[in-house]
Amino acid sequence: MGSDDCFVKFSRPFDWKRIFLRNLLICSFFIIFVFCNREQDTEKKAILTRLFFASEENLRKDLNESIRKKGSLSSVGACRTFSEENEREVLASYPGLVIRRISEKSRNPDHLPNDWEKEVFAEWKEFASKDIPAFVFSESAPKSLHFMRPIYVNDPVCLKCHGQAEQIPTELRAGLRRLYPNDRSFGYQLGDLIGAYSASWQRL
Ligand code: HEC
Repeated sequence: MGSDDCFVKFSRPFDWKRIFLRNLLICSFFIIFVFCNREQDTEKKAILTRLFFASEENLRKDLNESIRKKGSLSSVGACRTFSEENEREVLASYPGLVIRRISEKSRNPDHLPNDWEKEVFAEWKEFASKDIPAFVFSESAPKSLHFMRPIYVNDPVCLKCHGQAEQIPTELRAGLRRLYPNDRSFGYQLGDLIGAYSASWQRL
């Protein structure tokens, strides 16, 4: 009986159909997974594009208004990625999303780029040497989506605190130096690339 069992086991025909169906199932799951991720990525990219645009517009508005009312020195705290209220909204509405503003020549040392972000800046520089403007960069990893979008000096108000150092009033320059002793965010002109938004969105 035992040897018969053995015989049956070894002589069973190779079940191509079952193997084919199983592989088909695995492939389908994989395709659905990739497709769903891609769908989600498209949606996330659209959300981020909106958030970056809103952040940029609010920043210009807040800075212009604050400088008009209180002067530049009292407005240094207004140059933020988002206002406190917007930041709370983003945190509550989009779990797993972290947005930073970064720069290779940053004012705040917390805003220096990580390795991946440095690579994107390097690519942008290489393209700039061929007169191609910096473009939005994204990387879709299995556990997260990374997204980087350039920030340009797009309003003369930026030059009040990021323009040529010698053109910045002494009092404001001293105030910035007190807050940011390693400040390198000077010398920009209208139209220059000053940094980037960098978003990291964990997949749930
Ligand atoms: C009133 C002064 C002031 C003005 C005007 C100003 N900034 Fe800033 N900027 C700052 C300060 C202060 C920081 C550091 C903020 C922090 O510590 O989070 C900063 C940080 C940044 C950063 C993040 C990287 C870094 O250097 O730390 C970017 C990008 C930036 N500014 C772009 C702009 C742009 C674009 C404009 C014009 C729309 C602008 N800034 C106008 C004061 C200013």
